Amino acid sequence: MNSMTPGLRLAGLTKILGGRTIVDDLSLDLEPGELVSLLGPSGCGKTTTLRMIAGFLTPDAGTIEVQGSDVTALGPERRPSAMVFQNYALWPHMTVAKNVAYPLKVARVARREIADRVAEVLELVGLSHHADSRPAQISGGEQQRASLARALVQRPKLLLLDEPLSNLDAKLRVRVREEIRDIQQRLGITTVLVTHDQEEAMAVSDRVAVMNGGRIEQVSAPAELYRAPATEFVAGFIGSSNRLASPDLGPGENDVHWMVRPEHVVLVPADEGIPGRVTRVLPHGHFAEVAVVARGTELRAYVSGETPAVGADVGVRIESALRYANGVLDTRSLAPIERIAA
Ligand SMILES: Nc1ncnc2c1ncn2[C@@H]1O[C@H](COP(=O)(O)OP(=O)(O)O)[C@@H](O)[C@H]1O
Ligand SMILES: [Mg+2]
Repeated sequence: MNSMTPGLRLAGLTKILGGRTIVDDLSLDLEPGELVSLLGPSGCGKTTTLRMIAGFLTPDAGTIEVQGSDVTALGPERRPSAMVFQNYALWPHMTVAKNVAYPLKVARVARREIADRVAEVLELVGLSHHADSRPAQISGGEQQRASLARALVQRPKLLLLDEPLSNLDAKLRVRVREEIRDIQQRLGITTVLVTHDQEEAMAVSDRVAVMNGGRIEQVSAPAELYRAPATEFVAGFIGSSNRLASPDLGPGENDVHWMVRPEHVVLVPADEGIPGRVTRVLPHGHFAEVAVVARGTELRAYVSGETPAVGADVGVRIESALRYANGVLDTRSLAPIERIAA
């Protein structure tokens, strides 16, 4: 394998189910050791894509290559990938160690080697002390780690995770996602993570692929995705945005919208900026979300420090706005706003 060979290459993947195109000509390359999330709303085709990569579902068109080898025609057990399922799928009657050993047993690995590899991977995920526990005797987070261990014990070239944290409570979710990211980086294993949770995707990924209707709308590093959403869909899906006809709140042009982040709507004294009135204030702790109506348009602003009262007259200043023509980013609008207006 040369250094330019991707860890995973999806080329033109397509899947039709029930007469509908669920995954639509999807192409994506992952660098070796890269973690890429497939992020998108429920039903956009994330799981279907992952199941094709794993070999549980046959594509209607397209190919899948792992480290340069075409695996499209191989069954799941012959692919160099391992999957962690949303519901963990642990055998309830087997101990943690037996669950983790299971795929090696099926692959007829020698008993001594199985014991060594299971011990090693339980150590890696911090579950050595639960080797002899059954799934019902350990917490949800520990079950998730057992499920991760069962995938990693196979020494896969590709790790596939389908909403692995969705059964955990919010605090635990944050901790386990950091553990997964840490292990993934230590092993340097190419990983696809499916999630509908943008915060999760942004927190752990090298790059995020935003999916909509079976297609990838954008694949970028998390910060870039937030700074320069390539489509109106991505701008609306990642973080929150005001969708305006024009940045001066005037009538605007045909098929053009402007997206403005709430942190770029700045409230100033009433005699400055565009005149507006506060209609709602939602405290969030370290900042407040303030709704303002200006020139008949409702805008949301994030305000830290002193918050205005409902009914107060304020001025509105828009510091940054992105222009979308027919739903696609006009990259010229990434320049500071004074220059756009010119
Ligand atoms: N076997 C199937 N037959 C028909 N439609 C299916 C089948 N499996 C999934 N779908 C549909 O495909 C769409 C995408 O499903 P899925 O990939 O599970 O979405 P996601 O994981 O992004 O939530 C959904 O609308 C779902 O109802
Ligand atoms: Mg899914």
